Amino acid sequence: MKVLITGGAGFIGSHVVEECLAHNYEVVVVDNFSSGNIDNISDDCKVYQVDINDIHLKKVFEIEMPDMVIHLAAQASVMKSLEDPVADGEINILGTLRILEHARIHHVKKIVLASSAAVYGNPEELPVNEKSPVNPLSFYALSKWAGEQYVQLYESLFDLPFCILRFSNVYGPRQNPLGEAGVVSIFINQLINGEEIAIYGGQQTRDFVYVKDVATACMKAIESTKTGVYNISSCSETSINDLFSITSSLAGISMDPLKYPLRQGEIQQSVLDNEKAKKEFEWKNSYSLQEGLKETISTYQLKI
Ligand SMILES: NC(=O)c1ccc[n+]([C@@H]2O[C@H](COP(=O)([O-])OP(=O)(O)OC[C@H]3O[C@@H](n4cnc5c(N)ncnc54)[C@H](O)[C@@H]3O)[C@@H](O)[C@H]2O)c1
Repeated sequence: MKVLITGGAGFIGSHVVEECLAHNYEVVVVDNFSSGNIDNISDDCKVYQVDINDIHLKKVFEIEMPDMVIHLAAQASVMKSLEDPVADGEINILGTLRILEHARIHHVKKIVLASSAAVYGNPEELPVNEKSPVNPLSFYALSKWAGEQYVQLYESLFDLPFCILRFSNVYGPRQNPLGEAGVVSIFINQLINGEEIAIYGGQQTRDFVYVKDVATACMKAIESTKTGVYNISSCSETSINDLFSITSSLAGISMDPLKYPLRQGEIQQSVLDNEKAKKEFEWKNSYSLQEGLKETISTYQLKI
């Protein structure tokens, strides 16, 4: 089986590549390296430095004829989507549509789309399940939601099986500490470098899921005969204050963060129900927050 992974040089994508190689899939990566890094990927897979909106993508599908596609390439920043909604739409909506067209033309057997908890907006009830109302509050959330709609229409019009995976807050090795979503990598990086740490609010909660559990979910989705939308999360709530305490204690570094008021527009609480993925994929989040953090911290400490 050959799987084409877009965004395979990125944070999550590089772990999905590892997981697929470990399961003896032939792996082809498409990435433009806008935020990804070639050093993130093993020599055991073929890499095309191609933008998903580029004409050359057609050639990649013609040459490789993948059986499956895991589509992770995206503009993944909420801030950037607010600064430049057109660029966000071009990558996340048009780019996804182009991937779908190539998948349809080349008779791909299944597509897995990376979506986000952001599509739910400010949840009315917790934990949020896949039937909870969708309410995108940023262009990023909206473009992810639009991508989901295209994927579902391709299934109903052209019988292209899919799994849409809505990830909660993913953390782990290789996450960019400069990225806004990477609070864990920001904390670890600042702790290790002895930099001042600022916490805005602190009582707000997030659902942190370890990147290796996310990679396993992508594999399970590819192998499953099911089609549908799935939350991929830890289904546990952790406040930013608690996350900081646990991370600093595991890193063995004591530091008092600077406290500021919660930033405008920040969601107060977030936790995603993951029962559907557990039941239908026989997937589980194997890493506790402590285990995932320990592993992440050790990769940072190795780099010093
Ligand atoms: N990190 C999270 O917490 C999180 C949460 C929810 C959803 N997601 C989704 O998961 C996916 C992966 O996110 P990530 O955190 O690994 O981000 P990332 O920025 O590390 O990875 C994205 C990858 O896509 C590549 N890419 C971007 N635009 C491209 C284009 N036009 N053509 C080809 N390649 C392109 C980048 O170079 C990078 O390698 C994204 O779809 C994102 O929306 C991430």
